[in-house]
Amino acid sequence: MTPTATSLPPARPAFAAVIVAAGQGLRAGQPLPKQFAPWRGKTVLRHAVEAMAAAGASPIVVALPEGAEMLAAALLAGMDDVLLLQGGDTRQHSVDLALEVLASNAPELVLIHDAARPDCPPQVVDRLLAALTDDPGAIPVLTIVDSVIRTSGQRDDREQLRRVQTPQAFRFAAILAAHRAWDGAPFAGDDAEVLRATGGEVALVQGDERLRKLTFAADFLEPTILPVRIGTGFDVHRLAAGEELWLCGVHIPHEKGLSGHSDADVAIHALVDAILGAVGAGDIGDHFPPSDPQWRGAPSARFLGHAVMLAAQFGYGIGNVDLTLICEAPRIGPHKQAMRERLAEILGVDPDRVSVKATTTERLGFTGRGEGIAAQAVATMIAEAK
Ligand code: CTP
Ligand code: MG
Repeated sequence: MTPTATSLPPARPAFAAVIVAAGQGLRAGQPLPKQFAPWRGKTVLRHAVEAMAAAGASPIVVALPEGAEMLAAALLAGMDDVLLLQGGDTRQHSVDLALEVLASNAPELVLIHDAARPDCPPQVVDRLLAALTDDPGAIPVLTIVDSVIRTSGQRDDREQLRRVQTPQAFRFAAILAAHRAWDGAPFAGDDAEVLRATGGEVALVQGDERLRKLTFAADFLEPTILPVRIGTGFDVHRLAAGEELWLCGVHIPHEKGLSGHSDADVAIHALVDAILGAVGAGDIGDHFPPSDPQWRGAPSARFLGHAVMLAAQFGYGIGNVDLTLICEAPRIGPHKQAMRERLAEILGVDPDRVSVKATTTERLGFTGRGEGIAAQAVATMIAEAK
């Protein structure tokens, strides 16, 4: 099929990027300046440069602290279209120097970005570039949720205030001219302030919390995500005449069925508890209370689907599951394969990750007397790669 014009994402205009990475990162207290510190498996600098490259920036000019070019070249190995230079004694000076490098082969548009912001959602880049159609500058901003006061105690109206992030987007000629003309204080708040000083309009677009700037030591402490978590589940339902028998989402012809909340699929209930238990998300009763009429007679497959979705929100996917059904009758053997396949379908995994076993209790106890069926389950959950 030939893709139609509407099925293609809108093309972004070409743009270059400046990434300022020449600071000392004093507040972060890392052994090296913070842009060279590891964060989620890579250095902060590599994250920032990769994010700009993924958004389509070309070339990408990176301003570095004195003497850090070899280190940066090693950290950015394999990335084309990246130009390294020594930055200046202030952020603003670092931006100046990088813009001058680009000036010899001037791009139409440029994004100026802090290396200390490792994550850059592409939607923000789209919003910024779109805004440059009308204005020479555009910056991402966020509203403030807390009350704000001056240190004198006087309250400011937070509705009038915004938190400013980077990347900031500019028509290159306008921001270059503004930087060359800047004769204000040695510290401009940001590049937008430099542009405004020449009368250039700056559009405010919606920012994103993921653009947060790593600043303090605590920003580098990551919660320990266990690579694998294990949960167990156990459930019992009573066998009664006049009920249907559902096990592992499969309807089993039998003279009795299980009674209880929902379709009383004891195997799925044990499995739901195992998955919820693995991610520490409570148990089946917390999520599907028997008192809630909406779950009466509900197919238990829905509970299982919901548990998988919850686990995904906690950052985990199914590794494997193992179930044991405990009953004298019916015989489970003939249905095992169908049960595996049905569970795999609900879980969204291959059947080889699902095991269904059965045992009797030698006619002992309630399962031995045929009064009920018990099920126990184990699930391993694997942390999803970030
Ligand atoms: N930056 C720069 N050149 C400078 C100072 C800062 O390129 N002379 C860069 C930093 O590397 C950072 C960005 O500007 O990517 C934002 O600055 P900030 O978060 O303040 O970083 P640092 O100045 O390095 O940190 P600190 O203020 O804690 O020392
Ligand atoms: Mg600083």
